[in-house]
Amino acid sequence: MALSKKIEATLNQQINEEWFSAYLYKSMAAYFKSMNLKGFAHWMNLQTLEELSHGEKFFNFIHDRFGTVKLTAIKTPQLTWKNPLDAVQAALKHEQHITSKINELMTLAQKEHDYASVTFLNWFVTEQVEEEAAADELVEKLKFIGDNKAALLGLDRELGQRTLSKN
Ligand SMILES: [Fe+2]
Ligand SMILES: [Fe+2]
Repeated sequence: MALSKKIEATLNQQINEEWFSAYLYKSMAAYFKSMNLKGFAHWMNLQTLEELSHGEKFFNFIHDRFGTVKLTAIKTPQLTWKNPLDAVQAALKHEQHITSKINELMTLAQKEHDYASVTFLNWFVTEQVEEEAAADELVEKLKFIGDNKAALLGLDRELGQRTLSKN
C-alpha cells in the first residue's frame, strides 16, 4: 500500500528534522572542541551519526512505500552556548521537540490506519525514550558538577568512552 500524500509529506519533513538534529549536534561538537572538552565533542559526534542514520531510515521507508523523497533546506543551527550545561539543556529540549514530532506522525498514521507506518514509527517512539533519558542524564550530571572543574574533566573522560550503538 502506497503512502498517503499527507503521511508522505510529514515523513519527508521528518528527514529534515533528523538531519537538522545531526547538524545541531555537530555544532555542539564544534563548541565542545573549542573548549577542549574532547569527550563531550566525541559524544556529540556519535550523536550526529545516530541522527544521520535516523534520517536514512525515513529516507528508505518512504522509498519502500512507493513514495517520493523530497529533500529541503536544513536551517543553520545555534553555534554557541553559554556553558556546557546550557548546551546539553538545549540538546534535551531539542529531543523533546523531536519526540513531539514522532508522536504527531504516529497520531497521523493511526488516524489513517496506516499500520506499516505505525510499526515503523514504533522504533522511533522507543528510541526517543532513550534519547531523552541520555540527554537528561547529562543535564543532571552537569548540574551536580556545578563549578567543579576536576569533576567536569572526569565526566569529559567518561563521555570520551562512548561507542556507537548498533541500531
Ligand atoms: Fe533522531
Ligand atoms: Fe535524537
